[in-house]
Amino acid sequence: METIIVIFGGRSAEHDVSIVTAISSIIKPLELTKKYRVEAVYVAKSGAWYWDEKLKDINLFSSGNIADFLHKASPASIQFDGGMKLVKASGIAGRKQIRKIDIAFPAMHGTYGEDGSLMGLLDMAGIPYIGCSVSAASIAMDKVICKQLASSNDIPVTPFVHFSKSDIERDPLKVIGKITGALKFPLFVKPAHLGSSIGISKVVNEKELKNALEVATHYDDKVIIEEEVPNLIELTLPIMGNDSPIPALLERPLTSPEDFFDFDTKYLQGGKKGKGSGGKSSSKGAQGYSQIPAELPSELYSRAENLGLKVYKTMGCSGISRVDMLVNQKTGQIYFNEINPLPGGLYAHNWNKSGVSNIELVEKLVLFAKERHSTRQALNTSFSTNYLQQF
Ligand SMILES: Nc1ncnc2c1ncn2[C@@H]1O[C@H](COP(=O)(O)OP(=O)(O)O)[C@@H](O)[C@H]1O
Ligand SMILES: [Mg+2]
Repeated sequence: METIIVIFGGRSAEHDVSIVTAISSIIKPLELTKKYRVEAVYVAKSGAWYWDEKLKDINLFSSGNIADFLHKASPASIQFDGGMKLVKASGIAGRKQIRKIDIAFPAMHGTYGEDGSLMGLLDMAGIPYIGCSVSAASIAMDKVICKQLASSNDIPVTPFVHFSKSDIERDPLKVIGKITGALKFPLFVKPAHLGSSIGISKVVNEKELKNALEVATHYDDKVIIEEEVPNLIELTLPIMGNDSPIPALLERPLTSPEDFFDFDTKYLQGGKKGKGSGGKSSSKGAQGYSQIPAELPSELYSRAENLGLKVYKTMGCSGISRVDMLVNQKTGQIYFNEINPLPGGLYAHNWNKSGVSNIELVEKLVLFAKERHSTRQALNTSFSTNYLQQF
């Protein structure tokens, strides 16, 4: 039986979301396939790695008993020996428990996980892993690079500028002058690398802009400022696959404009402010209530679907991702907003509606991981030279 390691938690603002994604949407369905031995590896906020069966139980985390568990447990280590092994002290003095890893499922959101760092480690170990490569993941985590890459590939994005934290701190008035010279209010000010709406503000004048820049630089060393898309409809499209990506259903989150950038709206109680009745096709998803499929004119639906697929390919995604778009309802113009290499809960609620069960979803993702790994293995990375013989 192959062993899959599911790595979750991590040093990120989305630590807690990752625990739920890993346990409910990945570990449980992987175990239900009965095809794999599943090992849970939890990366604590300190950065230490823990490997234990008990980490598969959400109650350990929801009850707060995790602190006590971590206090007593000894961290695991990773052995790189032409592959990857998990190692930890066993209960018996001097003995170690060792498990060879065949496949890895990175289940972290945000920094030090979804941003490519974990993928780099897995590449070094040479094992197949689920989801985007280092480069796709790190592009996706940078709102500036992502939008630059999109616009150089004729993917529409709302007009934006960006500044470093040091530029903003050195001469905020100059930066504000440059922003107001290039863009029209209302503006969105965002830390370039965070998700979950942390540190984001909508501003309508220079005073608010100044405050928003201060807030954003508190979280990040790079800030993006962009024009508002008016008459907004938001759309999101989960996609999976490698060279021939498959879209799920286009989904329209149904939150009201005033709570659009609020962490609680997205994650608490399936959207604490989510509007309960969004019509026949609305359902409570990973991010509150949403309409699946989005009720749109078919022309707009297919344009959005095609744009999502184009973004996926342009960013070099593989395995799975979710593309978020902003639509001006009046003009019908669709703008690419962001891409998430690890959608919360894998967006299983949407895949389910597209006819893919939670078990099928994780099975497919494992196959995509293996497929990409063997394609990469087939590439020649060694090249003989006489270089050393001269020394
Ligand atoms: N340019 C924009 N115009 C209109 N609304 C926006 C714009 N940018 C962001 N928003 C709103 O703010 C929310 C959060 O912004 P987003 O870029 O998605 O950041 P995050 O990475 O935190 O999800 C979006 O879902 C949308 O509701
Ligand atoms: Mg977003």
